[in-house]
Amino acid sequence: MKIIIGADHGGLLLKDKITQHLKDKGYDVEDVGTYSAMSCDYPMIAKELTTRVLDDSANLGILVCGTGIGMSIYANKVKGIRASHCTDTYSARLTRQHNDSNVLCLGERITGMGLALDIVDEWLSASFEGGRHQRRVDMINELDEVK
Ligand code: RB5
Repeated sequence: MKIIIGADHGGLLLKDKITQHLKDKGYDVEDVGTYSAMSCDYPMIAKELTTRVLDDSANLGILVCGTGIGMSIYANKVKGIRASHCTDTYSARLTRQHNDSNVLCLGERITGMGLALDIVDEWLSASFEGGRHQRRVDMINELDEVK
């Protein structure tokens, strides 16, 4: 499994903290930027990250911006992406188990560093349960065919 991580300027510090945290735990992490505090456009980062997540079905993505909302709005418009904006560990676990979430969105200006790292850990350690949840995820995937 590879973790792709990205942030705009509003999520830079949390992105770097999560990246170090995951590397310390032995995860293979690819950082798609941003790399400085200079203002940038979160859709550009979300575009790059979602493309790389979709390169391999084993990949997972973490997007950070000021609120986590802009990133999640963009990511959920990309076919094959199920992005979850989380501010608590329960949602982080359930969105992997039930929604087969493949992108986690966090807000650096909303969620403190300690809780954010717990959310990341919970999200990564949970796995999709399939069964009735697969049927529901399939119904979401069918939306991609409706234009
Ligand atoms: C940047 O100021 C901010 O708009 C962005 O980080 C994010 O919160 C957007 O949803």
